[in-house]
Amino acid sequence: MAIRNIRHDGDDVLRKVCKPVEKMTPRIETLIEDMFDTMYEANGVGLAAPQVGILKRIVVIDVCDGNAYCLINPEIIEADGEQIGDEGCLSLPGLVGTVERPNHVVCKALDINMEEITVEGEGLLARAICHELDHLDGILYKDKVSDGLRAAEPPAESEE
Ligand code: NI
Repeated sequence: MAIRNIRHDGDDVLRKVCKPVEKMTPRIETLIEDMFDTMYEANGVGLAAPQVGILKRIVVIDVCDGNAYCLINPEIIEADGEQIGDEGCLSLPGLVGTVERPNHVVCKALDINMEEITVEGEGLLARAICHELDHLDGILYKDKVSDGLRAAEPPAESEE
């Protein structure tokens, strides 16, 4: 188990566009394990590779629905409905903001075996997928908040 340093807002690495993963390597497998460890340690529901300083298109998500997703080179292929709710981010600790997201998304990606998977999400899972995929293009949720950021009420247990 290895916990990596989470980069915070203001770090340039969070504003870069990440590169696709072309093949699985032992190094990337370790990165993915570390991303899960780091996310769970921080009580997050999602983490993207650039948040630990790696510019690769990899995210991990666990919204406590019984699934732990690793999505490699993910793409949203369908999005519909809307939800308006609070969002946080492990790279902006202690803050939340209101963001509108689709209520339902279908996401195509590769799993850790580099096999194609499709993940369908509603509600929190849809929100987490959108939030994490934005990180891969250098977008932070604060770019999309409708009414500014505010202090999270402690304990912040659902930061993404
Ligand atoms: Ni985030």
